[in-house]
Amino acid sequence: MTQTEILLIDHATPQPELIARAASIIKRGGLVAFPTETVYGLGADATSDDAVRRIFDAKGRPADNPLIIHVADRQMLNRVAVDIADTAIKLIDQFWPGPLTLVLRRAPAIAPSVSAGLDTVAVRMPDAPIALALIRAAGIPIAAPSANTSGRPSPTSAGHVLEDLAGQVDMILDGGPAAIGIESTVIDMTVDPPVILRPGWVTRDAISDLIGPVRTTASSADLGRSPGTRYKHYSPRARVVLIQRGSAELIRQTCLDLLTKGAVAYLGHTPSGISHPQFAEMIIGPASRDYAAAIYASLRLLDETNPDVIVVQGIEPSGEGEAVMDRLKRAASEVILE
Ligand code: TXA
Ligand code: MG
Repeated sequence: MTQTEILLIDHATPQPELIARAASIIKRGGLVAFPTETVYGLGADATSDDAVRRIFDAKGRPADNPLIIHVADRQMLNRVAVDIADTAIKLIDQFWPGPLTLVLRRAPAIAPSVSAGLDTVAVRMPDAPIALALIRAAGIPIAAPSANTSGRPSPTSAGHVLEDLAGQVDMILDGGPAAIGIESTVIDMTVDPPVILRPGWVTRDAISDLIGPVRTTASSADLGRSPGTRYKHYSPRARVVLIQRGSAELIRQTCLDLLTKGAVAYLGHTPSGISHPQFAEMIIGPASRDYAAAIYASLRLLDETNPDVIVVQGIEPSGEGEAVMDRLKRAASEVILE
């Protein structure tokens, strides 16, 4: 166990003296959790095998699930990856800094444990002043998975990081809530056509408009390529039931049926109309951005009411909604289709 220090830091213009303290921890092999525009990351020196191993230990993450490396500029990208294809450069020009992670060929300077033995590496440039300032001040690429215990909902606030990783991380930079709320799109650029391994805020259409056709993961062979997608993910303690596309009546009936067996929490954009001592309800906006910003925090919060089941209303799985529904399906142990 270590002492976890929490620094409140300005998200638009991070105080240089606070960044310097965080960077010195990274440089001596420690762990710093920091906000990105997607979710909070758990950062360490990507060139140090020992530092990277501390990330896996803190999260309880399986060693065969590789991490994303964060860079602050193109020069740093060239220390991380080699043989970068022209199509990858096009995506970088258009979407960096931003929530798009590219899988590229790994450069020798990168700690092998980052990639879990693969000869590729996942890399992105976050669109968040704190993250960029930290990487620049450390002067090294920073490996950072989401800063949650493995299997739990990703953290969108410093409080979530503390909930999962108090005593496991040296410092948490608290820059307020993450703007987007779900993780980056991951695309494998080492294959032709490129394959989207994880949908995210940068949509499939936005990518193929720029570089032509891309595939999405469906086959188990592809799941093997992005090992993280094999594991149970994003789950609160309660069982999650996802109503993929449901009328108000289906939602109401499902909740009422489940209430005969135990406590129920409901998260959605359509009010259920139910009033019951064993029932908690959280209503959020219907747009993809409303869901993205709210789902992880809401699942954690509803869990606090100790429900047996959390019922979640889905949204249209197109555009950014595809990423939202991907996360909800992975969190769910049951999916109800109308
Ligand atoms: O938005 C994000 O991407 C956040 C913030 C902190 O940047 N990070 C994040 O990291 O979501 P993590 O570790 O929770 O997810 C990384 C994903 C996993 O699905 C992993 O399997 C995949 O990226 N990945 C990493 N390296 C890979 C590689 N070399 N080949 C294929 N997939 C890889
Ligand atoms: Mg994660």
